Amino acid sequence: MKVVAFNGSARKDGNTAILIRRVLSVLEKEGIETELIQLACEQIRGCNACRTCYKTKDERCIIVDDRVNEYVQKMKEADGIILGSPTYFSMMTPEMKALIDRTGYVARANGDLFKRKVGAAVVAVRRAGGIPTFDAINHFFLISQMIIPGSSYWNIGIGKKKGDVEGDKEGMKTMEDLGRNMAWLIKKLKRSKR
Ligand SMILES: Cc1cc2nc3c(=O)[nH]c(=O)nc-3n(C[C@H](O)[C@H](O)[C@H](O)COP(=O)(O)O)c2cc1C
Repeated sequence: MKVVAFNGSARKDGNTAILIRRVLSVLEKEGIETELIQLACEQIRGCNACRTCYKTKDERCIIVDDRVNEYVQKMKEADGIILGSPTYFSMMTPEMKALIDRTGYVARANGDLFKRKVGAAVVAVRRAGGIPTFDAINHFFLISQMIIPGSSYWNIGIGKKKGDVEGDKEGMKTMEDLGRNMAWLIKKLKRSKR
């Protein structure tokens, strides 16, 4: 069992990374392998709407000067996918949006590669705009026919400077509860697929 997580922040090892790592630590305790990929400093272009992925149906995007094709395969191989983003002007970062648009289009062109995987959104916010960000990521999971576990609150941590979210005790607990629910769901789904 494996969960792959992406941090869409332009700031490596910031608040979003801290929140994601708290979820991953619970998953690991539950015996689930994890991997965190941070998109900071990566140049990920948006979808160019060429629809080549619908013609070739080879699970690949025609844009090959970044790591998106590698990420499609990592997401396909995983049982669970975490997409984390800070809130930028009440939305996810451009890097996370580009990742969603490109991997999402390739996945849909190839028969919904992420169908029935477990998906979780994780969001960092200073003050407001976290809910639209959270909703937009969940919309991606839902149209991908994925399954979303809940937590004890919406998966949002509050903080501005790097490390501030550690002081958001309820936010950190939300991440731990999310990790437990995600592990529970992944194990159930794995058993039912056997
Ligand atoms: C370009 C930019 C836009 C931002 N927009 C918002 C916003 O709309 N609402 C908000 O509460 N915080 C906003 N923030 C603050 C970040 O969401 C916050 O600092 C977050 O904790 C950063 O997470 P990170 O450390 O993972 O990058 C913005 C930050 C940047 C750099």
